[in-house]
Amino acid sequence: MDPVEALEGEALAAVASSGSTAELRDLEVKYLGKSGLVTGLTRQIGSLPTPEEKKAFGAAVNDAKSRIQAAIDERVAGLKGGERALQFERERIDVTMPGAKLRIGNEHVLQQAANKIKRVLGGMGFQYMESPELEHVKYNFGALNYPPDHPAMDDQDTFYIDDELVLRTQTTSLQGRVFEYMKPPLRVFTIGRNFRNEAVDRTHNHTFHQVDAFMIDEGISMAHLKGTLGAFARAMFGEEVKVRFRPDFFPFVEPGVDYAISTPKLFDGKWVELGGAGLIHPNILESYGMDTNRWSGFAFGLGVERIPMMAYGVDDLRLFLENDLRVLEQFRD
Ligand code: FA5
Repeated sequence: MDPVEALEGEALAAVASSGSTAELRDLEVKYLGKSGLVTGLTRQIGSLPTPEEKKAFGAAVNDAKSRIQAAIDERVAGLKGGERALQFERERIDVTMPGAKLRIGNEHVLQQAANKIKRVLGGMGFQYMESPELEHVKYNFGALNYPPDHPAMDDQDTFYIDDELVLRTQTTSLQGRVFEYMKPPLRVFTIGRNFRNEAVDRTHNHTFHQVDAFMIDEGISMAHLKGTLGAFARAMFGEEVKVRFRPDFFPFVEPGVDYAISTPKLFDGKWVELGGAGLIHPNILESYGMDTNRWSGFAFGLGVERIPMMAYGVDDLRLFLENDLRVLEQFRD
């Protein structure tokens, strides 16, 4: 059999049975490439005796090459359609599928409480201010009428950094800083973190938050304090809340009280202590040059954690600072 015809037959059969365009590319190289089998046949031309035979053989090889090339091209075109359809199928996207759900955060429950306090006290004309968590002993105790080594400081045994600096134990520490440069009449409040060397339990943590507010004006009395705390409690907890005051001692107030709230909705109407309050001690007003015949003021402070405890019936405030998202995600304002 003619070697050109034989090779062409073999090549066409291989093309016909090939199943992918990649395979066809290999066949193209194998038969028609520079060192391909069909191309190789032209090397036999030299051994042919006459110019006519040489010409005829060359033409036969070229014709065979064209037919093989045409067969490859045709088969490639046929396969490509199928391969593309397959690729489309593999890469199909279902645009109607529900998307991946984004996790939406929420404000920390104590931040939510702080925001509400700010709205309420801001609405009553109190100005919001902040003071340092790492505080001078002077502002945390001395400026608040604590005599040196007074046992009242034992209630708030704290973390001393050195003889002059403490992690503040109460946000009341803002008072001295404000009195140094603001003159009455004034209404100021702050919200912040405090630290005490506490035996930690369900209602006491080493780190906790307080809100402290104070007001100085002419003729301020316990009636103003009671009215303000009553209005504050109703705005925070609802109209049916009751506020109770009992005598208590804090070096920076005279008289001093603690106050508790009760509402039928919570803890079976039991009284829950929120904080302390009183009329600012005249010693403090005088030490900052305020004439006590003209000016008097009240101050109150309470635990911020107590607010969501009361509002949501949570009986362990440590949950608020443990940063367990399963707990915190439940408090969405
Ligand atoms: C004070 O800290 C006073 N500075 C409050 C005050 C301000 C009185 C202005 C008079 C005038 P006391 O130590 O009782 O007081 O704390 C007040 C409130 O803070 C407590 O009733 C409680 O709600 C909260 N609190 C105190 N210690 C802790 C603690 N370790 N963990 C969580 N909350 C606390």
